[in-house]
Amino acid sequence: MPGPAMVQNLIVTSDARPPGNLVIRRYEAGDAGDTWRVFRAAVHGTASRDYTAEQIEAWAPPSVDEARWQERRSASRTYVACWDGAVVGFGDFTGDGVLDMLFVHPDVGGRGVARALVTRILREAAADGHQGLRVHASRTAKPAFERFGFAVDATRLAEIRGQQLQNFDMSIVFEPDSSAGTAPRDG
Ligand SMILES: CC(C)(COP(=O)(O)OP(=O)(O)OC[C@H]1O[C@@H](n2cnc3c(N)ncnc32)[C@H](O)[C@@H]1OP(=O)(O)O)[C@@H](O)C(=O)NCCC(=O)NCCS
Repeated sequence: MPGPAMVQNLIVTSDARPPGNLVIRRYEAGDAGDTWRVFRAAVHGTASRDYTAEQIEAWAPPSVDEARWQERRSASRTYVACWDGAVVGFGDFTGDGVLDMLFVHPDVGGRGVARALVTRILREAAADGHQGLRVHASRTAKPAFERFGFAVDATRLAEIRGQQLQNFDMSIVFEPDSSAGTAPRDG
């Protein structure tokens, strides 16, 4: 029986390592509040450059049903990025191959936290036997997903609490690789 597909086509750059101590670990029950705050800060602080105030408020309203949030994070394979012990980002993938959440606090934006999360997520998804992953990427996240090797399949309008937000169906197909780990690709 062949081994799990390895992620060969993740674009890797050598200078993407953030300073400090960045750890990617599995989501735990106590992470609900911290991940919610990262989500809200990322939407209001970063995605707000690409969507209207009404769209941003609908996407990340001021309060959350923490039990439901906790349930959803636990239902997916969620990973948390901790920078010097503080939760600064999180991302996940679902059993049906969707990278559903990827959020990084704006205070540490542009320093490779999303790359570290997605690198881990792609490896874990491949090890689980997924042949690839799909994502409904925001306008804000589209350039980052392109850097990670995802391609746009379609443009769509998502309806969230009465607001329509443009996003992009994107996907990556894992290239089978007999060697361990990831290999760099030009780009
Ligand atoms: C999208 C998001 C997760 C990126 O997090 P981040 O930690 O700042 O991203 P990174 O620093 O790891 O950058 C990832 C790569 O994307 C590139 N990138 C990110 N934004 C870019 C932009 N606007 N244009 C061009 N490239 C961009 C970076 O240069 C980097 O490439 P490299 O590693 O090859 O140099 C973060 O901006 C965010 O939380 N946005 C708001 C919420 C959101 O839209 N989430 C996605 C929902 S689908």
